[in-house]
Amino acid sequence: MHLFDRKKELVSYLEGERKKNRTIGLVPTMGALHTGHISLVKKALSENDLVVVSIFVNPTQFDKKDDLEKYPRSLERDIDLLKTVSKKIVVFAPTVDEIYGGHVKSESYEFDGLDKVMEGEFRAGHFNGVGTIVELLLRTVAPNKAYFGEKDFQQLQIIRKMAEIKKLPYTIIGCPIEREPHGLAMSSRNERLSKTTREQAGFIHETLQATKSKFGTESATTIADWVKSEFEKNPAFNLEYFEITDEATLTPMLKKQDNQKYRAFIAVYADGVRLIDNLRLN
Ligand code: PAJ
Repeated sequence: MHLFDRKKELVSYLEGERKKNRTIGLVPTMGALHTGHISLVKKALSENDLVVVSIFVNPTQFDKKDDLEKYPRSLERDIDLLKTVSKKIVVFAPTVDEIYGGHVKSESYEFDGLDKVMEGEFRAGHFNGVGTIVELLLRTVAPNKAYFGEKDFQQLQIIRKMAEIKKLPYTIIGCPIEREPHGLAMSSRNERLSKTTREQAGFIHETLQATKSKFGTESATTIADWVKSEFEKNPAFNLEYFEITDEATLTPMLKKQDNQKYRAFIAVYADGVRLIDNLRLN
């Protein structure tokens, strides 16, 4: 397996591969890899000759120092795992200095309001940080296709918007959410949950599924009130937000339109860990 920690060396390796007409997929990650990440890697492998997996805990997208410090890091284990998946994987694991060169700062983006709601509202500066690192990775790797999970659906839509605004000629592919057996969306953060909380956290997905069955007959406000009351009954899980929005604009649904697609989004704290999830409603 090829492993790079320098942009320049990665770029020159990829130039050689491109000359051999090889197509390149990119899967950006922050490491602590799990089955969710691997599902993106496998999809990318099925559609490209080689796949660059970047592993970089990006400091500019963390709004809380504590969250950045506690973010799990397991580079060696991640590399060992990727080796078992395919020989066609190239790992890019740069240092913070290699990426930011001493100026750990985000660019400022205009995302047409997609960054003003939900994660953007509760995590100041988060999406500017995501935009900064993803734009840099896209421009460095110049992939044919780049893969992102619907687990972070707002992030996926924002990256699509950035690619459109910046006229980046790379296809952005969204991939479905992988879940633990009891329904909790897989996340590197799940490792920080106690065993009991992790087992009980299927409650989050169950609640979303129930909102899907209510969606046909009840209003968004009634559904949101019901979700709040379910969380009040379950104090191990603290609801930060629940929203039903239009998939494309991420604006809250006021009145259901026949030709629109809607999704329910949720953010919850459990054991001091922030968990997010979402579900297509129609
Ligand atoms: P990270 O949380 O490591 O996730 C990397 C990619 O894996 C993202 O596209 C995310 O949506 C996807 N992913 C995570 N859990 C998933 C699951 N359970 N099912 C399907 N896909 C899943 O998201 C980031 O890193 C960062 O913000 C990044 C885009 C790398 C920029 O730093």
